[in-house]
Amino acid sequence: MALLKIVHYPDPRLHKIAQPITTVDDNIKALIANMAETMYSAPGVGLAATQVDRHVRLILVDISESKNDLKVFINPEILEASGQSEHEEGCLSVPGIYDTVTRPERVRVRALDRDGQPFELEADGLMAVCVQHEIDHLNGKVFVEYLSRLKQERIRKKLLKQAREAM
Ligand code: NI
Repeated sequence: MALLKIVHYPDPRLHKIAQPITTVDDNIKALIANMAETMYSAPGVGLAATQVDRHVRLILVDISESKNDLKVFINPEILEASGQSEHEEGCLSVPGIYDTVTRPERVRVRALDRDGQPFELEADGLMAVCVQHEIDHLNGKVFVEYLSRLKQERIRKKLLKQAREAM
C-alpha cells in the first residue's frame, strides 16, 4: 500500500469529471487500498478518487469512531434526495477551511461495492453529507463552490498562499 498525494484546491484537476468504472479489477482494488490508507492517515472521513488525481467514479467513506467501517462506492448514483439540512463541512483538498453547506438531508444511493456487487443505501446525517460531498468531487465540484463568491475568492487566495509557502 502507499500514501497518495491529495490535490489541493484551487488545482484545476479537482474540476475534472470522473469516468465510470467498467471492471472492478486488481488496479481498482489497489487504488481502493491506497485511497483507504491515505484517507485514514490524513485523517479524513471521506475521499474521492478525483482528490488523488485518478478520474474514475470511486469514493470511500468511513464515519465510524473506530475507523473500521470502510464503505466503498463504485459508480455511485443518488436515486432520491429529500429534506434539507445544514452541516459544517471540510475537505482534505481544502485544508484548514470549514464552512456550512446546505444539502438534502436524506439520500438513497446505488453503487457497486469493492467486489463489484450492486447495493443500495439510505443515508441521513453525516453519512448523507459525506456521500453527497464525495459524489460532488466526481462531478468536479468542491464544497467551497456552495459558498459566496467572496468567500470562494478568500479561500482561493489563502490556499494559493499556503501552497507557495510550502514550496
Ligand atoms: Ni472533499
